[in-house]
Amino acid sequence: MPLVTSHQLFRDAYENHYAIGAFNINNMEILQGIVEAAHEERAPLILQVSKGARKYARHEFIMKLVEAALEITDVPIVLHLDHGDSFELVKACVDGGFTSVMIDGSHLPFEENVALTKKCVEYAHAHGIPVEAELGRLAGIEEHVESKEAILTDPDEAAEFVERTGCDSLAVAIGTSHGAYKFKGEPRLDFDRLQEIEKRLPGFPLVLHGASSVLQEFVDACNQYGGKLPGAKGVPEEMIQRAAKGGVCKVNIDTDLRLAMTATIRKKFYEDPGNFDPRNYLGPARDAIREMVRHKLHVLGCAGRVPLA
Ligand code: G3H
Ligand code: 13P
Ligand code: ZN
Repeated sequence: MPLVTSHQLFRDAYENHYAIGAFNINNMEILQGIVEAAHEERAPLILQVSKGARKYARHEFIMKLVEAALEITDVPIVLHLDHGDSFELVKACVDGGFTSVMIDGSHLPFEENVALTKKCVEYAHAHGIPVEAELGRLAGIEEHVESKEAILTDPDEAAEFVERTGCDSLAVAIGTSHGAYKFKGEPRLDFDRLQEIEKRLPGFPLVLHGASSVLQEFVDACNQYGGKLPGAKGVPEEMIQRAAKGGVCKVNIDTDLRLAMTATIRKKFYEDPGNFDPRNYLGPARDAIREMVRHKLHVLGCAGRVPLA
């Protein structure tokens, strides 16, 4: 099956109160682990590529790897640009075979974000490709006080932004943040805000970035085998599930993949110091990613959504 766009996937997710997992890919083993999991769990899938990942792996390699993935599974797969930061990058991905793009103008003043997003939407839509945009700035909420860098999404502005840009989905800031250190105190997301946004944009797919739960088993393994990740903390999975019931159709996960891979490789290096065959540690890392992603697909409720052919 060729790559698909996200329209149909989001509609089903919205109507049935689950979310599609959007997993970041950087190399072959990560991609294989994710795709094997989606295939085994009969889950629709979004593979996403950041600007840095595209630079690291190169566009040509990503396209060929994803093409190979399409041959080993029949579950629908979207190839998405994550955090596009310019019209040129969005255009390159649209022209180069991606089936979904994000333009992230969230650091810009409102009017500039609208203008940049609109320009990307016009180009992408002319080529049949949907656009994710972002409004509000991600960063945690600490002790019931929004951290300085966080600018949580204003519900009225979100409605105006979607109306004026014509974007197809919107990443919102409700207290999540990227990376392994999301909260200093108790994890908290602003679900009232999410509800207000959903109320103003009924039926419209919302996106949650920074949604890794920073699984303790991998943090512990990293720390046990020579790593240093003190106080790493993510979003509890129950919160992700609650968001998925409140209009969030796409949940972005990268940190959990990185942790699964790094924890496994650290452990293998420790247990088998004489081994220098990369397959000896990259293989188990791929297995760990597959099992972690299978678990996530159940958490998100997207496992079992693709009937057997
Ligand atoms: O949101 C960020 C993703 O985790 C991608 O990170 O830009 O380091 O590839 P990256
Ligand atoms: P995490 O760092 O929580 O995995 O978030 C990833 C993300 O939002 C990618 O866009
Ligand atoms: Zn993100």
